[in-house]
Amino acid sequence: MTGPEEGQEGQEDALLRLTVGEVAHGGHCVARHEGRVVFVRHALPGEEVLARPVQAGPSDRYWRADAVSILEPSDDRVEPPCPLARPGGCGGCDWQHASLPAQRRLKARVIREHLTRSAGFDLPDLTVEPVPGDAAGLAWRTRIRFCVDASGRAGLHPHRSHAVVPVPECPLAHPDLSLLRIGQRRWSGVSVVEAVVAGAGAPSSQTPVPTERLVVLEPRAPSGKVSTPPLPDGTSVALLTPEGLRRVRGRTWVSERVLLDGAPRALRVTGAGFWQVHPGAAQLLLEEVLRVTAPRKGERALDLYSGAGLFATGLADAVGPDGAVTAVESDRRAVSDARRNLHGTGWVSLETGRVERVLPRLVAHGGLRADVMVLDPPRVGAGRAVVELLPTLRPRVVAYVSCDPASLARDLGYARSAGYRVSGLRAFDAFPMTHHVECVAVLEPVQDQERSVELPG
Ligand SMILES: C[S@@+](CC[C@H](N)C(=O)[O-])C[C@H]1O[C@@H](n2cnc3c(N)ncnc32)[C@H](O)[C@@H]1O
Repeated sequence: MTGPEEGQEGQEDALLRLTVGEVAHGGHCVARHEGRVVFVRHALPGEEVLARPVQAGPSDRYWRADAVSILEPSDDRVEPPCPLARPGGCGGCDWQHASLPAQRRLKARVIREHLTRSAGFDLPDLTVEPVPGDAAGLAWRTRIRFCVDASGRAGLHPHRSHAVVPVPECPLAHPDLSLLRIGQRRWSGVSVVEAVVAGAGAPSSQTPVPTERLVVLEPRAPSGKVSTPPLPDGTSVALLTPEGLRRVRGRTWVSERVLLDGAPRALRVTGAGFWQVHPGAAQLLLEEVLRVTAPRKGERALDLYSGAGLFATGLADAVGPDGAVTAVESDRRAVSDARRNLHGTGWVSLETGRVERVLPRLVAHGGLRADVMVLDPPRVGAGRAVVELLPTLRPRVVAYVSCDPASLARDLGYARSAGYRVSGLRAFDAFPMTHHVECVAVLEPVQDQERSVELPG
């Protein structure tokens, strides 16, 4: 079958026959049709497919298409575990049609491509490692934000769409979250239902930890009536209003758990505030950050984008009362959680505000310096204004935790211009079945390279 002709009416219904090329960031692969780049979802590199264009205007620089018929499948292809993981279906997953090892190879290729192209680093042997406790890439999501359609059914958005696909059951949901049966209930007066379970698969300690469940509802209209369907006993419910988080029943927060030096620590996370979604990820990242930065007693540490204080907690223990930790976070609720979580550690100061504003102010007014620095920004990355402060702050080591290879590569490029080189990088599959991946890059000042760890490979 040939492709749609330019300017042809109804062209989005015509199928394109495509030879699928390399994977690209975002959960799709690259193909070409009459010289034009087509980003194809539901396909794998090397496949021959028929694809339905979903964005294919005559003047579009590139097109988007969904593979709807696989003429020559890749050896990596598997049957998606969820019936909704198909063209036009739920957009929550990108790679259910690839085996788990293949998904990890695809993610490694994306990271390598970005780091090589944008930042000039060579990572031939990079692998994406599973998160401890991962079970076949399923049943891991301890937090899901469901949208509610006009009839009150909860679901997820299709890819690049605001529509809602009802999701009665999500195979990625942690079993404790599935027990809430969010997608099988009717939600009245609500536009968003965010389900959170904590203690699920948390690091083992001597005391068994009960699972905590919290449901945060966003009303459809500011003063509209919201009614909650019956939920399992002990489930907390909160309402997110423009004035703040309102308790409906139970608590407005959950206790997340990590182990520090073998001892359990509980960290409060309010509402739908940030916490790693995979039950093994927070512990893994905490251990990796402490391993690569190896903070010493009496050192000064910076935790940027600190959330509820996961890394600040580890850094505070490591540097001790003779040291200092400065944590910067823009979300007030997260800072207030961190204040409780770090209660009793007078050597930690918590700054509320955007890192790009707060950090220059602290440098200008207090002559801020750091021995150890942790950056864990959202997807957009830290950006030039923050990374360019490295020569002023002069940390001996930086751990950059990133959930986006593109912004990571860009920022590592800025870091190199600022006199810092990548001395290590590991990648973790903290979001199986999706295109997302978590990286921890280690940066050291260029003059310290003699003692730096070699890059993988
Ligand atoms: C990926 S999360 C990391 C949180 C924490 N490090 C953890 O592991 O739990 C990113 C955090 O950065 C915060 N944030 C986003 N943009 C920010 C900015 N410009 N300045 C400071 N914090 C920001 C978010 O509220 C969120 O808590």
